[in-house]
Amino acid sequence: MDYWISVGVLVLVLLGTSISLFYCAVTGISPVPSSRQALTAMLEVLPEGTVGTIYELGAGWGSLAFPLALEFPQCQVLAYELSPFPWLFMLIRERFCVRPNLKIRRGNIHNLPLDGAVAVFMYLHSECVEKLKSRLETELSPGTLVISNTFEVSDWVPQKIHQLDDTMCPQVLVYRTPLHHSEAARRS
Ligand SMILES: C[S@@+](CC[C@H](N)C(=O)[O-])C[C@H]1O[C@@H](n2cnc3c(N)ncnc32)[C@H](O)[C@@H]1O
Repeated sequence: MDYWISVGVLVLVLLGTSISLFYCAVTGISPVPSSRQALTAMLEVLPEGTVGTIYELGAGWGSLAFPLALEFPQCQVLAYELSPFPWLFMLIRERFCVRPNLKIRRGNIHNLPLDGAVAVFMYLHSECVEKLKSRLETELSPGTLVISNTFEVSDWVPQKIHQLDDTMCPQVLVYRTPLHHSEAARRS
């Protein structure tokens, strides 16, 4: 009996590790959470009393999504995550730390809606940010807050850069989405 329990545990561990590695390869990043310093810097960006929908793109284990939902109860926080274990972990976490304004969705951020965003948070990687860029420019209202842990959005000028004494998360960049091309042309 003990033998079969050990085999079962081993199979589960191997399966879990393989699935996790597979999703790291698919997304190009592991679900490493933002550091404490980066979390503090990101949480301080949103003005008190902000109302609307906040997106956490690639929410991992929920290290940012849960505090966001707690600190901004008047906002709806949408946490998107593709990797199944972090996503499942967030669902279980939600059972214990109930956040009525937090919605956890499994899926690829490149295919999920960004409707009505007042702010978008992300800790992804350069290639992924580059791929998202045109959607951020066209689907978000001009002036929407985009907060990126570590990775820059090419050609955008940050409103603020929080330099952190932290090798994993050396900076938090705060952007406002630029005017849509059509709007910029109309104003010029
Ligand atoms: C570095 S972790 C950041 C976790 C969390 N946002 C934080 O700041 O603590 C990046 C997460 O983004 C997820 N991710 C990367 N690309 C994604 C995609 N295309 N769709 C959904 N999730 C993605 C990864 O699975 C990973 O969990």
